[in-house]
Amino acid sequence: MELLTLERRPDGVALITLANGKVNALSTELLGEIRAAATELTNDPAGAVVITGGDRLFAAGADISQFGGPDEAATIGAAFHDALDAVAAIPRFVIAAVSGYALGGGCELALACDYRIASEKAVFGQPEILLGIIPGGGGTQRLARTVGASRAKEMCLTGRQVRSDEALRIGLADEVVSPEDLIERALGLAAEVARGALSAQAICKRVIDDGLDGPLADGLGLERDAFVEVFHTADARTGVASFLEHGPGKATFTGT
Ligand code: COA
Repeated sequence: MELLTLERRPDGVALITLANGKVNALSTELLGEIRAAATELTNDPAGAVVITGGDRLFAAGADISQFGGPDEAATIGAAFHDALDAVAAIPRFVIAAVSGYALGGGCELALACDYRIASEKAVFGQPEILLGIIPGGGGTQRLARTVGASRAKEMCLTGRQVRSDEALRIGLADEVVSPEDLIERALGLAAEVARGALSAQAICKRVIDDGLDGPLADGLGLERDAFVEVFHTADARTGVASFLEHGPGKATFTGT
């Protein structure tokens, strides 16, 4: 990897830090590395994942210098979807730590994560319309599912920037913290989650995501099956036995 780093920390957290020039432009090369890192974290999962663009900004979107006509758009769009679908498919809790601009593909990358912690200085937006184009990395779909169709349309059709306080209010950011506390909070939450019942977490994340793709009745069917599936895990036996013996919150899980 040349345009990002993937650090596996002793506490079970994997930290992906984008490192592509001034604005972390999401070139097809960087998207390929994001896909590779996400695939590695699916095949050999850490306990939880944090994705950051560093302490200045998250990412300013697609690398506009790679744009051309429809042929280039097909290549760039495929690279975005492959990379961001791979991030969304990581079977662990994935947190975006957003320090500054998360625009266009940067906002879409944050949306492909499970949870967004924003610095007070964070700015989100889908400014593609200002280039005469539309979001191509899942923004029309994941943003609408996160903030609702009307707000997503307003954001995507005006291209305006959304600051952290508004992002929190509309559910685009899940937490807002001071810039100094951002990475510590993201890593701290990830470490807490990484100590949990990881197999059950993976099942729970899958059922929430898959359930949201379809009608409620189908989602409830998925949950009914998954509730049985989770009782096959060692952690379910450990967790229930620990509760009965020691009370709540005392179990030590193995993640299996
Ligand atoms: N792709 C390629 N290069 C980009 C870029 C992008 N998405 N965003 C910024 N850059 C480049 C600029 O061209 C500039 O290059 P230069 O230093 O060689 O002139 C450099 O990054 C810094 O950008 P600049 O605009 O000078 O910095 P800023 O701090 O004033 O503004 C942004 C930062 C992110 C707000 C602004 O650059 C911006 O709006 N970028 C485009 C965001 C966008 O439309 N994304 C969706 C793409 S579909």
